[in-house]
Amino acid sequence: MASDGAGDGAMSGASSRLAAASTAAASPGPWPAPSVQLVGVGGYLPPRVVTNHELAARLDTSDAWIRERTGIVQRHLVGPGETAASMGIAAGRAALEAAGIEAGEVDAVILATSTPDQAFPATALRVQAGLGIERGFGFDLSAACSGFIFGLSTAAAFIRAGQVRTALVVGSEVYSRILDWQDRSTCVLFGDGAGAVVLRAGEAGSERGLLSSHLHADGRTGDLLFIDGAVGRPDQPGVLRMNGREVFRHAVTKLSASVDEALAANGLGHADVDWLVPHQANKRIIDAMGKKLALPPERVIVTVDRHANTSAASIPLALNEAVRDGRIRRGDLVLMEALGGGLTWGSALVRM
Ligand code: UT7
Repeated sequence: MASDGAGDGAMSGASSRLAAASTAAASPGPWPAPSVQLVGVGGYLPPRVVTNHELAARLDTSDAWIRERTGIVQRHLVGPGETAASMGIAAGRAALEAAGIEAGEVDAVILATSTPDQAFPATALRVQAGLGIERGFGFDLSAACSGFIFGLSTAAAFIRAGQVRTALVVGSEVYSRILDWQDRSTCVLFGDGAGAVVLRAGEAGSERGLLSSHLHADGRTGDLLFIDGAVGRPDQPGVLRMNGREVFRHAVTKLSASVDEALAANGLGHADVDWLVPHQANKRIIDAMGKKLALPPERVIVTVDRHANTSAASIPLALNEAVRDGRIRRGDLVLMEALGGGLTWGSALVRM
């Protein structure tokens, strides 16, 4: 089994009785549903780093504008041989190693991405094969930047239903391949990378694990942030388009409501939150959420400065960093939230 947590991406250990009320922890049937333990986390960032200055050299933008409006200083971008699958394999391998779990124990691979390698097979299955997993099932999930929260929630539902014991949830994105590199209003915002967590069925009633998750979508707002093509619409170039100002407005109000929803569902208040691990789209949105929760800045995990927005990968990448550097420890209450194209949004509360 994995060691005590801090420093190696592992989060296993003893558990005790559940104290707080929780929607998602409720049993789906007459049997006591297992808890959903987060037992390992991993990440992968491509080695190539591109600074704001490099972008400013070939685009009508500046390091000052990007920093001030977004908090971004640099981003990692894939090399020619790298894809959502290859990065997902690397992140998944790191998460399994941290959890001390063999590939053969994984029952399900759920991979959130907007940039799959192929329409099918699912990139999740490329990751499954790449990790040497020869059993169970897997699929891709499309919820844009909220993909990791949706994946976490979906995997947890399989675990609570008794259908899956061990799940690998991956967010892997190569946004550099769907950006319009002439559009300064979007191309400076995103980066590539992958993050992964291992979830495992634990003792029913444990006070640790995923306490609840809360998912939302509103297709009426689909034209605020979208990719304008896909294999089913080859007449469109397939690049990302965004009305940034409008998305920003939705993000602040919807994420605010979503974190309140998560805390209320568990009978918890702002003071109970140890760490906010937000989707990393814009430092101004992250700061607004930290302020709303009255969290000191050092309790908010920020990677947007170095990773930019890696969409579905951003939360597991941030979690990976903070678990491995020893900030997030076993027993800490972690609140995650994200909003993305769809619009989709949601939150999750995990007792590590
Ligand atoms: O992850 C999915 C969710 N996504 C988000 O949450 C993103 C939400 N939106 C945002 O983060 C912000 O709206 C942006 C960072 C995208 C934009 O910041 P903003 O403060 O809302 O700027 P803006 O779009 O209102 O643009 C202000 C000005 C405009 O010029 P004018 O019209 O005032 O003359 C833009 O043309 O900034 C200009 N601008 C730029 N200037 C230099 C836009 N992009 C750039 C750029 N460099 N890269």
